[in-house]
Amino acid sequence: MMKRNVAEILKSDAFLQEVHLKGWVRTFRSNRFIAINDGSTINNIQCVIDFENTSEEILKRITTGAAISIKGILAESQGKGQSVEIQVSEIEILGDCNPDEYPIQPKKHSFEFLRENAHLRVRTNTFGAIMRVRSKLSFAVHKYFQENGFNYVNTPIITGSDAEGAGEMFRVTNFEDNKAPVTEDGKIDFSKDFFGKETNLTVSGQLEAETFAMALGKAYTFGPTFRAENSNTTRHLAEFWMIEPEVAFMDLDGNMDLSEDFIKSVLSYALEHCKDDLAFLDQRLTQEEKSKPQAERSDMSLLEKLKFVIDNNFKRVSYTEAIDILRNSKPNKKKKFQYPINEWGVDLQSEHERFLVEKHFKCPVILFDYPADIKAFYMRLNDDGKTVRAMDVLFPGIGEIVGGSQREERYDVLLEKIKAMGIDEKEVWWYLDLRKFGTAVHSGFGLGFERLVQFTTGMGNIRDVIPFPRTPQNAEF
Ligand code: 4AD
Ligand code: MG
Repeated sequence: MMKRNVAEILKSDAFLQEVHLKGWVRTFRSNRFIAINDGSTINNIQCVIDFENTSEEILKRITTGAAISIKGILAESQGKGQSVEIQVSEIEILGDCNPDEYPIQPKKHSFEFLRENAHLRVRTNTFGAIMRVRSKLSFAVHKYFQENGFNYVNTPIITGSDAEGAGEMFRVTNFEDNKAPVTEDGKIDFSKDFFGKETNLTVSGQLEAETFAMALGKAYTFGPTFRAENSNTTRHLAEFWMIEPEVAFMDLDGNMDLSEDFIKSVLSYALEHCKDDLAFLDQRLTQEEKSKPQAERSDMSLLEKLKFVIDNNFKRVSYTEAIDILRNSKPNKKKKFQYPINEWGVDLQSEHERFLVEKHFKCPVILFDYPADIKAFYMRLNDDGKTVRAMDVLFPGIGEIVGGSQREERYDVLLEKIKAMGIDEKEVWWYLDLRKFGTAVHSGFGLGFERLVQFTTGMGNIRDVIPFPRTPQNAEF
């Protein structure tokens, strides 16, 4: 007897053969048709039971969500929309599911409701599809880097340095409640803490990844990252996964090429390996778009958007050019931006990024050469003395998906910057060492994995593309 999963059975044409399968009931109609899903595909398999020979007691227990085991004969389906079905000869209820208590009913639930039931939401079509795509994308990330000579490096989760210099970190401490020892000047005495210094959850693995790039040439991280910023947006999480490649002897142009090639490659992989799930998500988004006012609707479907990004060059524009475009734009002149653009040097908000991508260029954009003052300390200073070799990749519907730069490889310039930004040079002595011993041009970037999954699946809220989102006031599950 073939014991196979639903995905395999649906593709099979071994008619009249006996099959054995285990899964969960999605629906049960007319005391006869059970739609079973086992997570191997978004599609259910129809199992037809002979209800006259099935006991009343068993029939009652075939409810949405119940785990069951089926033995039967594979047959060509009589029904519409499926090619095969199982004529059931033996059925066993493995785990009951009380329909009066089970939150996941065969009907449309709001995403808010499903977030409150995140332990069960992956059983729905939408979340099953998202999480399978997420898994495939994460494989595609490793595949891309491994096939291109990168070494996977596991950078520490607990760190003593603030890589982004933004101070938005979660402290890691072993001090007991209210019993932190203090120094003579009243500050917490971290020398008595577990690590003998102040430590936090990492905001980026970049600084450590650089040490690997400067030895192995090409390195990448792919791990959890933490930010204690109080941002309640559809694009921010307090815990997210970041992918950070870092390459020696590569300048900013190479970095832009790498980010573009990488994104196109993983999206292509998803298109090829997640056909059913993406087709479903494409339909879902099309339905959702219909409920929006005409002016806000996207003129492309999800699949069209993915293909568009793969087939077209990202537009590369300097920050200075972007400011000119924004300053002279209609929404700026009509005071439609919440943050008006008046002068060079301001940081771009997501409304500006989305204007550039969605209205002006209508394609992904790579902005580069940002003002030094609004970027992190490690970015390479340009000869103009006021801009740095930074780059951000901006995506439709998402805004910033990648942030990266060419790194400052000159010891003196970096040291001066560190001092000017008030960073304790003793804290970053090892980072400075890289510039002392065999320094070289090098670059890298960070891509927020959830933002990539958001773009690929067309989901509007980042909380719906990570299994258990962590956001301000929320760490359930
Ligand atoms: O632009 P960021 O802050 O860059 C860095 O951390 C660099 N050290 C990366 C590098 O050069 N190696 O973050 C990189 C990306 C952003 O573009 C965004 O996609 C994502 O990480 N990101 C977040 N994603 C979800 N929630 C948040 N709170 C995020 N903050 C950043
Ligand atoms: Mg950034």
